[in-house]
Amino acid sequence: MSKMNRRDFIKTTALVGAAAGIMPTSLFGASSSRLQVGIIGTGFRGQGMTRLLLNRPDVDIPVICDIDDRMIDRVLKVFEKSGRPAPKIYKDGPEDFRNMVTNEDLDGIYIATPWEWHHPMAMAAMENDIHVGTEVPAALTVNQCWDLVNTSEKTGKLCMIMENVNYRRDIMAVLYMVRQGLFGELIHCQGGYQHDLRHVKFNDGVGGYGGGVEFGEKAFSEAAWRTQHSVDRNADLYPTHGLGPVSPMLDINRGNRMVHLTSTATQSRGLHKYIVENGGADHPNAKVDFKLGDVVTTVIKCAKGQTIMLSHDTNSPRPYSLNFRVQGTQGLWMKDNKSIYIEGMSPESHRWESDEAYLEKYDHPLWKRFEDQASGAGHGGMDFFIVRAFVEALKDNQSPVIDVYDAVSMSVIVPLSEKSIRLNSASVKIPDFTRGKWKTNKPIFGLTDAY
Ligand SMILES: NC(=O)c1ccc[n+]([C@@H]2O[C@H](COP(=O)([O-])OP(=O)(O)OC[C@H]3O[C@@H](n4cnc5c(N)ncnc54)[C@H](O)[C@@H]3O)[C@@H](O)[C@H]2O)c1
Repeated sequence: MSKMNRRDFIKTTALVGAAAGIMPTSLFGASSSRLQVGIIGTGFRGQGMTRLLLNRPDVDIPVICDIDDRMIDRVLKVFEKSGRPAPKIYKDGPEDFRNMVTNEDLDGIYIATPWEWHHPMAMAAMENDIHVGTEVPAALTVNQCWDLVNTSEKTGKLCMIMENVNYRRDIMAVLYMVRQGLFGELIHCQGGYQHDLRHVKFNDGVGGYGGGVEFGEKAFSEAAWRTQHSVDRNADLYPTHGLGPVSPMLDINRGNRMVHLTSTATQSRGLHKYIVENGGADHPNAKVDFKLGDVVTTVIKCAKGQTIMLSHDTNSPRPYSLNFRVQGTQGLWMKDNKSIYIEGMSPESHRWESDEAYLEKYDHPLWKRFEDQASGAGHGGMDFFIVRAFVEALKDNQSPVIDVYDAVSMSVIVPLSEKSIRLNSASVKIPDFTRGKWKTNKPIFGLTDAY
């Protein structure tokens, strides 16, 4: 069946199924009734997400693309374990993904490659009539962000960012509280990527980046690309895990928008110190000049008055934390000490109480509905939801709840924070990628128990 014919077939059969209230897969038998999803990037993230996609009876993965045989071997084991047929493989160099999206009859692709590849891969897919789910961030420059918006609008292809933290159970409960007015009117949110990545950037301190010494298990792939960004850029390199989850709370792109930001970076010490302590002062990596400041702080101003503070902190010894704080005129929630304070509700004034009972009481309906299926999926269940949202959007051919405008407004913080830092923390304008539609767009993420 041709690309278009098969897609029309899916649409028609879905309608017939919906009308009859049933959708017996046995009626269709052949894989053509299921979504055909290709994977580009079968590294550690790609393998986990492949497993979740293969868990779904409505998805086939007929084709994968990677350039590293070790990662391909690993993902083939995931196929084997799932009992699904082995996929066709594209592995003929870094541009071979273009052959895959041109030749293969796909409904969608999921991209889990290094950051710099997300934009070219998403563009090539949309231009070949294929929907996109991309890992974070979706793009690295302002122009790339506009490219994704313009191409998605021109082709009608979906470009979803797979920001799984939006679906974290506590985050969704807090979103539910926000929507019920528990915190009053929101005034300030915080989030960030605070993750000691020194072992990932250097493996044991001597392998990985530039060292050319034995690679370890996790670092052999990621160190090869992630570390270069710390050499080249002083910016909030990974803003979406912090910004994505608070965006729906603040109705970003749907009633509100981010207007401008300032970013400030500390000096860069942690990576050099780690190399010297683990590899010695004479190690070749000890000469590398890292641009990335150890802590990068960004403050964003929203059209409706709120501020958002983001932190990027990956070069120092520290426990993992996404640093969430959600604050309104009536009270606030802070993740790090698992605490909440609501005026008129908390038992003692000026004192925190545990957030546990609140998270339970306001457990989001979506989580309640899919709790059983989500358990066992990656990252405490949230990966189940992001995969589900992607697949359902493709099946309905409808804009996903985290759409291309969300993808770029989260991702554009990378280049804009870099610009602000370069200009001594000058205020930098944030483009309105919705071209004014934010004023009339209605909130959608987590509004019901549907997505
Ligand atoms: N949302 C999350 O929770 C989460 C978690 C981990 C990683 N990620 C994101 O997923 C992406 C991948 O991260 P990872 O940890 O799996 O890294 P990884 O290094 O393990 O995997 C990247 C894979 O991409 C392949 N690749 C590189 N260039 C390619 C090309 N031109 N064509 C085809 N394949 C190519 C590599 O060979 C490798 O297998 C990154 O963008 C990362 O930020 C997201």
